Amino acid sequence: MTKKRFYITTPIYYPSDKLHVGHCLTTVIADVISRHKRFTGYEVRYLTGTDEHGQKIQERAKQDGQTPEEFVAKIREWIKDLWEVLDIQYDDFIATTEKRHKKVVQMIFEKLHAKGDIYKDYYEGLYCTPCESFWTQRQLAEGNCPDCGRPVKKVKEESYFFKLSKYAPQLIEHIEKNPDFIQPQSRKNEMLNNFLRPGLEDLCVSRTTFDWGVKVPFDDKHVVYVWLDALVNYISTIGFGKDEETFNKWWPADLHLMAKDIVRFHSIYWPIFLIALDLPLPKKVVAHGYLLFDNDKMSKSKGNVVDPRVLVDKYGVDALRYYLLKESSISSDGNFSEEALAKRVNYDLANDLGNLVSRTITMIEKYNDGTILPPTNPEKIDEELIQMASALPEKVEHNVNSVNLSEVMSDIWQLVSRTNKYIDETTPWILAKDEENKERLSTVLYNLAESIRVTAVILTPFLPNTSEKIFAQLNVAKKEQNWDHKDWGLLKEGTKVQKQPPMFPRIDLKKFEKDASSSKGDKKDVKATKEKTKKEADKTQQIDINHFSQVQLKVAEVLEAEKVEKADKLLKVKLSVGDTQRQVVAGIAKSYAPQELIGKKVIFVANLKPAKLRGIVSEGMILAAEDAQGNLVLSSLDKEIESGTEVR
Ligand code: MSP
Repeated sequence: MTKKRFYITTPIYYPSDKLHVGHCLTTVIADVISRHKRFTGYEVRYLTGTDEHGQKIQERAKQDGQTPEEFVAKIREWIKDLWEVLDIQYDDFIATTEKRHKKVVQMIFEKLHAKGDIYKDYYEGLYCTPCESFWTQRQLAEGNCPDCGRPVKKVKEESYFFKLSKYAPQLIEHIEKNPDFIQPQSRKNEMLNNFLRPGLEDLCVSRTTFDWGVKVPFDDKHVVYVWLDALVNYISTIGFGKDEETFNKWWPADLHLMAKDIVRFHSIYWPIFLIALDLPLPKKVVAHGYLLFDNDKMSKSKGNVVDPRVLVDKYGVDALRYYLLKESSISSDGNFSEEALAKRVNYDLANDLGNLVSRTITMIEKYNDGTILPPTNPEKIDEELIQMASALPEKVEHNVNSVNLSEVMSDIWQLVSRTNKYIDETTPWILAKDEENKERLSTVLYNLAESIRVTAVILTPFLPNTSEKIFAQLNVAKKEQNWDHKDWGLLKEGTKVQKQPPMFPRIDLKKFEKDASSSKGDKKDVKATKEKTKKEADKTQQIDINHFSQVQLKVAEVLEAEKVEKADKLLKVKLSVGDTQRQVVAGIAKSYAPQELIGKKVIFVANLKPAKLRGIVSEGMILAAEDAQGNLVLSSLDKEIESGTEVR
C-alpha cells in the first residue's frame, strides 16, 4: 500500500537581514503541521529556504562592502541556526543561488518564451524594491507601495513580459470550482474582486538595471524577475524537468503556507505560471495573519523587531512555539509582547500543565510508592475525563487540517484543565487517609497519569520537548511514544514513575511592571500602567483550589526575634511550629520592634523552599499585609489556637 503523502512549504525568506519573531510564525506553523502529519502516518516533505536574488539584496550587500554571495551566505547560516534552535524539522532547504534551482528557472523561462507566453517589450512604471513588486499609479496608496507603505521608484527598461491576462479566466474558474483553494475566504474574495475580475496586466518578468539574479538563458543582459525565480523553488526541489518520478510523487503540493502579505504571488502569479506550464495547481494556499508588535508592524526601521533566539534563551523553545501557535490565526493578526509570552509560560505552561504533571507524579510516589496500579474501581465521575481525552485526537486532526493551531492548543489545554479539575473532584489526599479507599485511590491516580500520557502523545508534534519530559516522568518507552498510543487505557500497570525538576520554571513578572514604569517618565502614566497591570493580573492570575492547596499554611508562635546586622528591614525570627522550630528572616523591621513580636501567633508558609538572606537561612515566610506606604501588619488569629495548627 502506498503511504499517504503530504507536501508543505513555507515562503523562502529574503536573507537581507536576520529574521525576527514574526518570520518564525509561518515556519513554526508549518513545522507543527508537518510533524503532526508524519506522526499520523504520512510521508511528509517540508520545504523551506532562502530567496537570495534581487535588487534589494544586491544593494544591501554593497552597503556592507561585501559581494552578494558573501552577504547571503552569512545570513543563510544564521537562518539555518535559528531553525535548529526552534526545533524545525524541515526535509529540504533551498537557496535560490543553488545550481539545481537556477537550471530549472532558466528551463521554465525558455519554455514559456518558446510557447509565446513571454515576449520582449519596454517597461515603464513603478517598482518597490523592498517588496520586489511592480505597481501601477492607480494601485499606489497615497503615492507609496500599497503593501509596505514605502516610496516606489520610477523605472524604465527593456523587459520581458509574461501574458498573465491570457490565463486569468482559467484561474478564476479553478478558484470558483475549488472553494478551499485559497484560504481564508476573505483573501480569496480579495484576489477575485481586487485583482482577477478587474483584469490583470501582463507581468514584467526580467530586469536589466542590476545583475544579481538568474540570467535569462538566451539574453544575458536580463536577469529573471525575483518572484518568478523564487516561486519556482516549489518544483525545482522535487525534480521538475529532471526526475519525473520524484516530481510526480510530490506534486501538486498539499499546502503552500504564508502570511497574508504574499498571497497575491502565490494565488495568482504562481498558479498562472503553472497553468501555462500545463501543471496541476497546489491543493491549498493558506495565509495567516501577521504577528504585530504591540499592535504595530514589526520592522527594522521602527526598531521593534524581536530576536527569536534571545526569546528561546530566556523562555525555552517550547514556550516560544506555544506562544506563537496561540497567537496564530488565519483570520486575524496576532500580537507579540514579551510580557504576554512570560504570562503564558507562568499560567498555561507552569501552572496548568507543569503543576498537573508534578502533582500527579508526587501523589503516585507518595501514595503508591511510585507505581501505576490498575484502575480497578471506576466511578461515574471518571467518564467525562475519559471521553474528553478519547475525543481529543480527532478534534486536533480536524483543526490541524484547517490550519487552526490556536484552537488545537485550546483543545489540548481543555483536557489539561479538566484533569486538574478531576483532582479537585476526587481529592486523592482524602482518599489516602483511609485504607478502604486504596483501590479507588489507585484508579484516580491511574486516570490522572493516563490523561497526562495521552496529552503528551497528542502534544508531541507541537511541543516535542515538553512531551519528552512528560514521557520520561511516566517512564513511557520510546516505542510507545507515537500516534498508535493515543488511545485511553494503554498506560501499563506496574510502571514506575520518576519525578523530574519542574518543566517550566516560573518567570518573575514583576520585572515587566518595573520595565513598564521605568520606560515612562510621567507619574500618571506609571500609575495607570500599574493599575492596568494589576487589573489584568487580577483577571488572569486566577488559580484553582488545587494550586492554592499546595501552599502549606500553619500557625506559628514567635519565640525569639532580633535585628539582622546592616539590614535595616530584616529581623531574624525563631518560631515554634507545633513540635518543631523554624528560623525565618522577615522583612518587617521597619514596622515591628523585635520585643513586640515575642509570644505573638502568626500565619506562616511552612513549605517554602529555604533561601538565604544576608547569609542567614530562612525556612519559610510570615504572612503580613502591606499598604501603599510600605507599612506592614502581621496576620493574626482571631482566637487562641495551638501553634502548628494548619490554616486552610
Ligand atoms: N522572499 C519572499 C517570499 C518568496 S516565497 C516564494 C518574501 N520573503 S520575506 O522574508 O519578506 O517574508 C516572507 C514571509 O515571512 C511572509 O510571507 C510571512 O510568511 C513571514 N512574515 C514576515 N513578517 C511577519 C510577521 N510580522 N508576522 C507573520 N509573518 C511574517 O516575502
